[in-house]
Amino acid sequence: MPGQPKRVGVLISGTGSNMKALVEASRKPGCPYQVACVVSNKADAGGIAWAQAEGIPTHVLSHRNFPTREAFDAALNGYLQSQQLDIIACAGFMRIMTPVLISPWAGRMLNIHPSLLPKYKGLRTHERALAAGDAEAGCTVHMVTAELDDGPVLGQARVPVLPGDTPETLAARVLREEHKLYPSILASFAGTMPASR
Ligand code: GRF
Repeated sequence: MPGQPKRVGVLISGTGSNMKALVEASRKPGCPYQVACVVSNKADAGGIAWAQAEGIPTHVLSHRNFPTREAFDAALNGYLQSQQLDIIACAGFMRIMTPVLISPWAGRMLNIHPSLLPKYKGLRTHERALAAGDAEAGCTVHMVTAELDDGPVLGQARVPVLPGDTPETLAARVLREEHKLYPSILASFAGTMPASR
């Protein structure tokens, strides 16, 4: 008998299109995870309004209200711990996280990055792929470790770079793949995780 769906907290900073893809996939019968809450460090993140309208618990914690990165991370971890979560899914969460936030979730925190890691860690991934003349680009779902965009890779999706691509056209092609890859990897991850509650 499959257990209860694993409770996932999704961290966002903006549009939240990946979060939306995770939520929509979670509503299909038999999905081994549910999105228990959506958290943003920005009050005006589009994804927060969408999640609220969907009746998903949301929480906004502005990093501007904290004196240090660690103080913000400690407060965010406190909220996440209070939600009885099994998994954290970072989805366009534009913060460099410290061990204060990462360590308590070691082995249970995932991220999606818009490049074929280990290529192009950090920002402006599509611009850098085009500048390098790469023939293909893509996205990666990986475990979060203390090193930025560096944890074990759980899955990747590839797209061609086409003549005339701009960072925007390439980003849009990669994003369509992100929306398929992340729910699929999260479902496999949640489905094979031992019961913790
Ligand atoms: C995605 O490309 C994701 O890979 C990156 O930031 C973007 C977030 O987009 N980390 P969205 O907020 O999910 O629409």
